Amino acid sequence: MTIDKKFVDKFINVSSKAALASSYLVGKNDKIAADKAAVDSMRNELNKIDFEGRVVIGEGELDEAPMLYIGEKIGSNNGPKFDLAVDPLEGTNFAAKNLPGALSVIAIAEKNNLFNAPETYMEKISANVNEKGVIDLDFSVKKNISNLSEYLNKKPENLTACLLDRPRHKQIIETLKELKVNTKLITDGDVSGALLVTNKKYNVDIFLGIGGGPEGVLAASALDSFNCYFQGRFLFDSEHDKLRAKKMGINDFKKKYELKEIVSGDSIFCATGITSGELVNGIKLNENDFTSETFVTHKSTGLKKVIKLNQNIR
Ligand code: FBP
Repeated sequence: MTIDKKFVDKFINVSSKAALASSYLVGKNDKIAADKAAVDSMRNELNKIDFEGRVVIGEGELDEAPMLYIGEKIGSNNGPKFDLAVDPLEGTNFAAKNLPGALSVIAIAEKNNLFNAPETYMEKISANVNEKGVIDLDFSVKKNISNLSEYLNKKPENLTACLLDRPRHKQIIETLKELKVNTKLITDGDVSGALLVTNKKYNVDIFLGIGGGPEGVLAASALDSFNCYFQGRFLFDSEHDKLRAKKMGINDFKKKYELKEIVSGDSIFCATGITSGELVNGIKLNENDFTSETFVTHKSTGLKKVIKLNQNIR
């Protein structure tokens, strides 16, 4: 079974409207308000679409998120059954501070084909490699770089690694420096960080490090359409995290997940720019209309491109 391509436009509309809603709060120094605007809009638009949806990655669990919570049923309840991963505002700091790279993101897969991920950190690695054994979370940074260097036929000093600029990555950053690998340190937004491996124009050869688990699942959904390699391993630091994971059916807390275990079958991924970044430009508002740019993939049709849309505000 595949997801009918008519849904591509519908989900682009969902992420575009959420991006528009959030764009009014760009630079207002209020992460919560910017997020809420995107969440409300996304939920509202999703409920207009004919499908039976279930949120598997969302804004948290019912007790902490009134909307788009994990397990929430969404859509008109009439049509195909899909699982959804949503991040209505990815890069809350970017939006609040009017910095580049805020996105509104959604991924859709056929029912039971998208990993039900807890909101914990995830160790991640991705590259534009379609062979197993080149990069791996269990390899040292040195081994990953030397394998990738051989695979891409590029010297380590010509490779670029992208990772979140965090104290927890100090050791990785030092090793990359010793290996003379260039680093691209991002302050936030590792969905888009991981997607920079998809095209040579971004000049990123490998993405690695620890970031949000939900963001890992979202990135994997898009990377699947590019035949890129991705692995993720959730990090459960507290008993509370472990308990939540168990409730979601995870018993092996150290498991390394291959992309296909995170997303399988057909999928659609849409990331619309709120503020302009490397993947897409942000919302441009005119008096009565707005322009949005959405990074879209649809696995079964091979669609993977940036779609620019101009539509009326109301
Ligand atoms: P928010 O949009 O929820 O603020 O997340 C931004 C982000 O940078 C993600 O892209 C990333 O996965 C996560 O935060 C990293 O978490 P932390 O800031 O705790 O290192």
